[in-house]
Amino acid sequence: MADSRSYRGIEPWLGERVYVDPSSVLVGAVEVGNDSSIWPLVAARGDVNKIVIGERTNIQDGSVLHVTRKSPSLPEGHPLIIGDDVTVGHHVMLHGCRLGHRILVGMSATIMDGAVVEDDVIIGAGSLVPPSKVLESGYLYVGSPVQQKRPLTDKEREFLRVSASNYVALKDEYFIDVHPI
Ligand SMILES: CC(C)(COP(=O)(O)OP(=O)(O)OC[C@H]1O[C@@H](n2cnc3c(N)ncnc32)[C@H](O)[C@@H]1OP(=O)(O)O)[C@@H](O)C(=O)NCCC(=O)NCCS
Repeated sequence: MADSRSYRGIEPWLGERVYVDPSSVLVGAVEVGNDSSIWPLVAARGDVNKIVIGERTNIQDGSVLHVTRKSPSLPEGHPLIIGDDVTVGHHVMLHGCRLGHRILVGMSATIMDGAVVEDDVIIGAGSLVPPSKVLESGYLYVGSPVQQKRPLTDKEREFLRVSASNYVALKDEYFIDVHPI
């Protein structure tokens, strides 16, 4: 059983066939869509705002997901919204940002409050996406702070779907081999 905790009466919500590693921690308003997976040592803390994760999305080992509270100057705060078929690599920091569909966030990248990543984007390992930055659909971004490097190739666009579906298959193996239900 994963460590799934209520905060102020709100429990994490999991869709169908979601894999959550027992060493990860989900707190409060965290929604995880069908066939998504949460890998070892992930912390997702939906306390002062909500975290919404779409379908077939994987959040890899050691990643940290948090949000920013609502305030008079920021009425909605900064929730964390992640779309479908997104691959979040190992040790990624996602804070109060919005990610579309079919995105790869490279290992150890950081994405800050109010940043928006449009559909079909690759973010290189170790990149920093500053607050409120918008990453345009269809491009590779690398660096700290990130710079638009080049358009994605057709092969890379296809890889975004393949990466997500590989992780759907992998989490299904974990249900069978590692944590039978
Ligand atoms: C970003 C990435 C996809 C680029 O791959 P690539 O096809 O080798 O990229 P390119 O050869 O077109 O490189 C483009 C430029 O970006 C640079 N670059 C590549 N990755 C970079 C990174 N992570 N940070 C900074 N610069 C990077 C290259 O040196 C090159 O620079 P140049 O134009 O000055 O020569 C790859 O390096 C990467 O970071 N992948 C992330 C993998 C990952 O974390 N997966 C999740 C866990 S499984």
